[in-house]
Amino acid sequence: MDDTVLVLSGRKYARVVRSSLKERVSLLQGSPPGLTVVMVGDDPASKVYVGAKEKACKKVGFNSSVVRMPAESSEADVLKVVEELNSDSDIHGILVQLPLPDHISVDRIASAVLPEKDVDGFHPVNVGKLWRGEDGLFPCTPSGIIGLLRHHHIVMTGKNALIVGRSNIVGKPMAALLLRENCTVTVAHSRTVDLAEQCRRADILVVAAGRAEMIKKNWVKPGAVVVDVGMNRNSSGKLVGDVDYHDVSQICSAITPVPGGVGPLTIAYLLENTFKARSRQQIARPN
Ligand code: GUN
Repeated sequence: MDDTVLVLSGRKYARVVRSSLKERVSLLQGSPPGLTVVMVGDDPASKVYVGAKEKACKKVGFNSSVVRMPAESSEADVLKVVEELNSDSDIHGILVQLPLPDHISVDRIASAVLPEKDVDGFHPVNVGKLWRGEDGLFPCTPSGIIGLLRHHHIVMTGKNALIVGRSNIVGKPMAALLLRENCTVTVAHSRTVDLAEQCRRADILVVAAGRAEMIKKNWVKPGAVVVDVGMNRNSSGKLVGDVDYHDVSQICSAITPVPGGVGPLTIAYLLENTFKARSRQQIARPN
């Protein structure tokens, strides 16, 4: 099936999302959407992500700022910053970059961000809305994946979807969003018995396991749609996903590459969420 495989380019779709946002921003009255990222410590990967977020904001005409705090900051220090951002009406979206230092509770910080400004979709109110089928702000990577599948007119209703990975950032919200798209959803994880057999039953396979090229051709149903959330370095230092792309693209009908697949979607949907947050705040508090 190699010659007909559809490559689901997140890079191209992210461009579509950004140009639509740029257009919508140009039509706004009042201040542009504003995003603030809080970064505690200087994790090298986080620095790269935060830089990319600032650049993406600029491209579409958003205001953006970064609050950089030393790694020794206490949880109370971070909570104080979050409170200040919560009450600043020019800031529509707040994102606290993960990972946080070990002495700071991710749950307490996530719960302190106002749900209306929670562009990560990590606040329990937004998690509840996601599972109840209500409108809210939902995690960026899974939202981007749904957008990508819709953009390519991939039918989700009635399909068997398997997610490999049960994180709060990707696996669990992905399950909720695919359920909202009327898939029959299974979540597999490190303790799943006979993972290969579970994978072979999936029409839509989303892999967020963090293990380089673990998904092989004989694990995949012919014609399946394969979404690879992984970002790993293999033994020769090359950036690879959780799916063996060369092998699996010979049997599936559509697949996301790494790099250029899911990666670019996360930031594009962070911008979408910030725009949405602003719109909802304008409705709640018009000025
Ligand atoms: N670090 C890696 N991915 C993410 C994400 O989606 N949100 C936040 N806040 N931090 C991250």
